[in-house]
Amino acid sequence: MPTDANTALRAREFALVKGYVTRLFDPARPALHGPLHWRRVNKFGRRLAVHTGADVAVVCLFAWFHDAYREDDGDDPDHGRRAAMAVDALHGDLFHLSTDALEKLRYACAYHADGYVSSDATIGTCWDADRLDLGRVDIVPAPEFMSTAAARRITELNLPRGATRGSAAQFMGGLRKRRPTE
Ligand SMILES: [Fe+2]
Ligand SMILES: [Fe+2]
Repeated sequence: MPTDANTALRAREFALVKGYVTRLFDPARPALHGPLHWRRVNKFGRRLAVHTGADVAVVCLFAWFHDAYREDDGDDPDHGRRAAMAVDALHGDLFHLSTDALEKLRYACAYHADGYVSSDATIGTCWDADRLDLGRVDIVPAPEFMSTAAARRITELNLPRGATRGSAAQFMGGLRKRRPTE
């Protein structure tokens, strides 16, 4: 299939997944882990992937899925495992990935909230994109909890609390400035 057709197909799949999980979300409940967070994770992940070489399709799908099966904004240690089950259930219907990419998406969702880091570029980029949005709850993302060098560089900028909230362009500025030295 030509690249343009592949890109269009992928964009349609992203839109299907985004629409599906957004409809699941109860707009009446607090949204610390809701659609605006998913959108920022998507934006951070895409930007990080330029530097990390991550599989962008996995990173984008992670953004939409990873917190979509939370019950609320409280302690919900199994929400990642539920997201991984949804990934399995919806693969082949809403979206299509290779076996390897599907396994990475499933793993990234299942364990994203357990405090791990990963040496895998794709899984690490997923987790870093999520943690870079901790500014929304006034937590400054720490370098030791980042998996990729690109995300560690951002966190070493010592951004003020809340710097990521609604300010993705500002937050990712450090990456853009440092890119030529890579
Ligand atoms: Fe989560
Ligand atoms: Fe999240």
